[in-house]
Amino acid sequence: MSARLFTPLRLGPLELPNRIVVAPMCQYSADDGCANPVWHRQHWAQFAMSGAGLVVVEATGVERSGRITHGCLGLYSDACEAAMARELSAAKRLALPGTRFGIQLAHAGRKASVSYPWQGGKPLGPGADPWPTVAPSAIPFDSEWHTPTALDAAGLARVRDAFVAAARRAVAGGFDAVELHMAHGYLLHEFLSPLANRRSDSYGGPLANRLRFPLEVARGVREAVPARMALGARITGTDWVEGGWTVEDAVILAKELKAIGVDFACVSSGGIHGGIPVPAQPGYQVSLAARVREGSGIATRAVGLIVDAEQAERIVAGGQADMVALARALLDNPRWVWHAADRLGAKIGYPPQYARVAAALWPGAKLARPDDFPSLPQAAK
Ligand SMILES: Cc1cc2nc3c(=O)[nH]c(=O)nc-3n(C[C@H](O)[C@H](O)[C@H](O)COP(=O)(O)O)c2cc1C
Repeated sequence: MSARLFTPLRLGPLELPNRIVVAPMCQYSADDGCANPVWHRQHWAQFAMSGAGLVVVEATGVERSGRITHGCLGLYSDACEAAMARELSAAKRLALPGTRFGIQLAHAGRKASVSYPWQGGKPLGPGADPWPTVAPSAIPFDSEWHTPTALDAAGLARVRDAFVAAARRAVAGGFDAVELHMAHGYLLHEFLSPLANRRSDSYGGPLANRLRFPLEVARGVREAVPARMALGARITGTDWVEGGWTVEDAVILAKELKAIGVDFACVSSGGIHGGIPVPAQPGYQVSLAARVREGSGIATRAVGLIVDAEQAERIVAGGQADMVALARALLDNPRWVWHAADRLGAKIGYPPQYARVAAALWPGAKLARPDDFPSLPQAAK
């Protein structure tokens, strides 16, 4: 019997060739928000030909001040849009047939203006060109973090418009899918969680009010993203602390998103406040995805320490999720999908330039035809 992991998946208007997704991963390597032909080109190239059904580009700031670090990608200027389109087009030339590309649109909220992870990931000090941060309420992420300004009506409208404008730029840039970042303690999650949202207006208080701003953003972006493209959201399954966001809240959010026309949800967790431990162990968020899938009916992606092929297959074959996203396992081994296919008895195309690998090491593997890659040097000859 063929592995469910390698069966096609319909995601709204898109058909993915399989159920393996490259999770969004910040690279902190952009130039004022712009992708560049050094780091992003090599990073996207390896995943374009990885065999994953969907490759999601890292959290991309919808406004300059919504980036996490000075090196985060953005889609807030014509220069960002042009660079993104140029690099995406290069990646697409390398992509295995059927591979789709999405982009995660994000606003870092009160977790913006920090140093690179390899410099500590801490709030930027006065000499490091910090910038003011915003949030639903003027509560910092942790002690010694920047105190954000609570967004007023004009600020809310500005951020909402920025999401919509960035989505339009993503459409123009040639993406197949847009994913809204509503997790990891960034701005939209801050509105959802009672731990970060202490507003007393119609955007705070009961769950229905806390959902309001993220749903307004989702509605605006759905209108900007044509029906031929998929729209998804990365949501949080739990804040991992008493009094925080719960998986039952996530089910309600997923139902509301589905009603707006959002095609899928990726269920992650954590990050709302400093010092809350996350019990990370293999597949630690899978049961959250399963609950969201069962309770809302939205196409669901599981993520979090999914590292081997059999584990991934069990998740989708067992109906806990429709697809899986991998981050660190794919960084470690961009050929993960090729090897998983071999382990699970599935066939996956190899670029013709690498045909000798398949012939020698994976005799059952399928070779892509040279004309699957008409724009690659030599391949069409
Ligand atoms: C280098 C790196 C960068 C990440 N950047 C993002 C990001 O841009 N957006 C996001 O939602 N999650 C981000 N994450 C989280 C991953 O997408 C993923 O949810 C998490 O690493 C758990 O999956 P894993 O165990 O397969 O790595 C990042 C993770 C890593 C390792």
